Amino acid sequence: MLEFNPRMQTNSIQSIDGKFKGKDIISLDQFTSKDLKILFYLVPKMRAIALKALPSKVIAGKIVVLLFYEPSSRTFGSFSTAVKQLGGQTVEIQNPQEFSSIAKGETFEDTIRVFEAYSDGIILRHPTMGSAFNAAEIAKLVPVVNAGDGKGEHPTQALLDLYTIFEKHRRLDNLTGVMAGDMLNGRTIHSLIRGLSLFKKNTLHLLSSKELKLSKKDYSNFSKRGIKLVEIENVKDMPKNAHFWYWTRTQKERFKNLKSYERVKNSFILNKELIDTCAGKNTIFMHPLPRVGEIDTKIDNDKRAVYLTTQIRNGLYVRMALIALVLGGKI
Ligand code: NCD
Repeated sequence: MLEFNPRMQTNSIQSIDGKFKGKDIISLDQFTSKDLKILFYLVPKMRAIALKALPSKVIAGKIVVLLFYEPSSRTFGSFSTAVKQLGGQTVEIQNPQEFSSIAKGETFEDTIRVFEAYSDGIILRHPTMGSAFNAAEIAKLVPVVNAGDGKGEHPTQALLDLYTIFEKHRRLDNLTGVMAGDMLNGRTIHSLIRGLSLFKKNTLHLLSSKELKLSKKDYSNFSKRGIKLVEIENVKDMPKNAHFWYWTRTQKERFKNLKSYERVKNSFILNKELIDTCAGKNTIFMHPLPRVGEIDTKIDNDKRAVYLTTQIRNGLYVRMALIALVLGGKI
């Protein structure tokens, strides 16, 4: 796989500052709470468009390239649906390293420049941290949206997660949450912590095995933002009645050897017993999916479980809102 310079410096990514049009979306660090408000305001409108049988003309005539170097079904599917619901069209490329000129040895830079020439926007998923930032540096003419860069970030997932929490609790400050699973490698975790740091008085209990704690660097970077991070290794230390639980899978593909993955996978299972001991009646159970055994399927019909219901649907609406804003659609 291609290697990149880790040049991901947040100060060289443009902040949104109320203006989305033409901006690359690489990190949650580009957002302020006001930017989230602008985005969230559009979500009900997007829902209305999605529920109509006819596609809208919000981005009619625009072409968006989905360039996915890593497996994905729901993020890929939700971006593809979002563009089509807005009346745009997609060029969809999955696993280009196997099926395209990249397999012939084409550089990342050339690939990005080619698709920049064809399209009005590039949505990129890539296994290497910093790749979305690099793509944005290469593609000067069209916006690049990060759909997951290795163990770096997954900003659109965090936006839909934040919206889902907001929809339930009507605020994004003064919240207590539990995040469980892979803090070290989970890009959805990294983006969501950044997002929740934009608001005051949030406390996150990070439940993981020792091996899967946040890196020291991430822990200190995030803590400096004022969010309270409490690292725990045992469900006994979970807070009661948290506003949300955010479960994640252990990121198998980031491990160098399978043995160490096997040792730490599924250390914490979200099941009825845990819910009965620690959850409250307003605690929501979230997961970015896919799950691979860390949530008992018996929980799926619990009203508090949103991972297969509102969280998924919000993913489509929030991505529609973001694409409409970034591509300067007629809303
Ligand atoms: C997440 C990802 O790719 O980071 N999934 C997703 O986008 N729906 C979470 C994961 O793969 O564990």
